Amino acid sequence: MVEIKVRSRALVVLAALALLLAACGGDEADTTTTAAPATTAAPATTAAPATTAAPTTMAPPPEGDAVQGGLLYDKWWTVLGMEDPSGDSPIWARQTTNERSGTDTWRCKECHGWDYAGAQGAYGSGSHFTGFPGILGAQDKDPADVIAQISGQVDPDHDFSVLGDDAIADLAAFITTQLEDYSPYIDADTKAAVGGDTAAGESLYANTCAGCHGADGTALNFGDADDPEYVGTIAADNPWEFFHKVRFGQPGTPMPSAIALGWSIDDVLDVLAYAQTLPAE
Ligand code: HEC
Ligand code: HEC
Repeated sequence: MVEIKVRSRALVVLAALALLLAACGGDEADTTTTAAPATTAAPATTAAPATTAAPTTMAPPPEGDAVQGGLLYDKWWTVLGMEDPSGDSPIWARQTTNERSGTDTWRCKECHGWDYAGAQGAYGSGSHFTGFPGILGAQDKDPADVIAQISGQVDPDHDFSVLGDDAIADLAAFITTQLEDYSPYIDADTKAAVGGDTAAGESLYANTCAGCHGADGTALNFGDADDPEYVGTIAADNPWEFFHKVRFGQPGTPMPSAIALGWSIDDVLDVLAYAQTLPAE
């Protein structure tokens, strides 16, 4: 029995060898074409470990979607399709200067600003002033620490865990990879764009924005008939908000994100410079 098995195995091996020989024994052209992939494959396999090894030696990249995080920073419940939050957010009671209440007090931007600079930036005075700090200092932090802050593990009153883990990872990705200090691009006194190329902005606007907002930016009115707000209005009155909305998009609408389109900060600055020439009222 054992002997027969060994013999039949030997036969199978012989048969396999015969097949291999038959396959390789064709004309020489075949042999060289099968050899070619083998030599090109070799560098690929040696290159692979090098590319996979690199990330393990560096800090782990954030896992979330930074563009989604930017939209959440603007108005998370609209992005997540949740009910508008009611009552004041817990930290709100630590300030008395910003007289808003309820839903607005839950927006990240209401405390930290469109410029991410909190009381050190545009919300350092006026009706939005709270005295709360910005988040620009958090850009160099480990995403895990930013997640801990957003989910209330550092300060129990700063607990946004209702957004869920995925959304908080998106916010951490936004904060650690896409925060920008807009101050070099905006004159803080006049709010005018600094150094933008209006002609370049005009063609970017015509190709990307005019389809929805109209050639002069008045096709969509974000205000009302008596007090209209157009692209030109936001560009003139709140260039920091303009930067944020154009880079990330408008929550709950199909407005595209300039980051997702591959635009640079200078592209957005060019569109801002052009939009400041459009009708504001
Ligand atoms: C009601 C005001 C308020 C809202 C809304 C708010 N924060 Fe904060 N945030 C604070 C305050 C105040 C601090 C300072 C630390 C503390 O007291 O918790 C802070 C700190 C932070 C920090 C740490 C900054 C640093 O330098 O390390 C991050 C990151 C942050 N917030 C992100 C967010 C995000 C994301 C949201 C929206 C989901 C948000 N915050 C909503 C008030 C707010
Ligand atoms: C697919 C359509 C679409 C495109 C393309 C589009 N937007 Fe929008 N945008 C919208 C909608 C819808 C709104 C919200 C309107 C509202 O709230 O009534 C909006 C809002 C805005 C706002 C103001 C948001 C606010 O509430 O203050 C600005 C500023 C803006 N868009 C600028 C731009 C610029 C600049 C471009 C081109 C880079 C652009 N948009 C491309 C649809 C679009």
